[in-house]
Amino acid sequence: MRRPLIAGNWKMNGSTALVKAFGDAFAAARLPAGVDVVVIPPFPYLETARQAFRNTSLKLGAQTLNPQPSGAHTGEVSGSMLQEFDVAYVLVGHSERRQLYQETDEQVFDRLMAALASGLTPILCVGETLEERDAGHTMDVVLGQVEYVMSRLEPAQRSEVVIAYEPVWAIGTGRTATPEQAQEVMAGIRSYQASFDAVLAEQLKLLYGGSMNANNAAELLAQPDIDGGLVGGASLKTDDFHAICQSAG
Ligand code: G3H
Repeated sequence: MRRPLIAGNWKMNGSTALVKAFGDAFAAARLPAGVDVVVIPPFPYLETARQAFRNTSLKLGAQTLNPQPSGAHTGEVSGSMLQEFDVAYVLVGHSERRQLYQETDEQVFDRLMAALASGLTPILCVGETLEERDAGHTMDVVLGQVEYVMSRLEPAQRSEVVIAYEPVWAIGTGRTATPEQAQEVMAGIRSYQASFDAVLAEQLKLLYGGSMNANNAAELLAQPDIDGGLVGGASLKTDDFHAICQSAG
């Protein structure tokens, strides 16, 4: 059985007040016992979040990291720095990083290796654009992104990776992939992983991301190969995010 994971990526949103509101709301509201829930705020809020989440079961994530352990990399943050703030998860290869900051598969791989070296669980994000879907290239694009990283890892490293499938056309658009569309791609990723190792493939945690909200989460999470969600906009409201977490229980 794969333990469900709901991760809320705040992107460049939020405030100290919002962090505290989440701490208060999730200290008071119960979460399903079998579900891991992660909040991924911008870097400046990590320490406040660490304090505010002490009486909750919320875990902390980060939105990216630099592949280097330290040095002259102005504006960057390393894995060991994230560790100091009790960060457990880190996103790598989010489509916004790939598109807005030209992150290549090679750079995504380097970041993922840095995450593993720092004991952080990497959430590898993959997904196709609308043009790629319309041209019938969805599986080629998604499996290409997955393969670049996974084929370079040792089995023990592969077992540490969570993969988030996020169709770019569904991110922040209100246009969610249908459960069938999401399931089809997730099943493809799992069967690709099975070509390395059938046991690891069964353990691989796959998240869906792209306009997931309190209304559509249950149907998406009911799909056999969807083990959780990477939630953007709906993770900024305590009630909505809590309802999504409940759907995963
Ligand atoms: O990281 C989260 C995803 O990009 C989904 O964002 O829920 O706002 O569409 P969204």
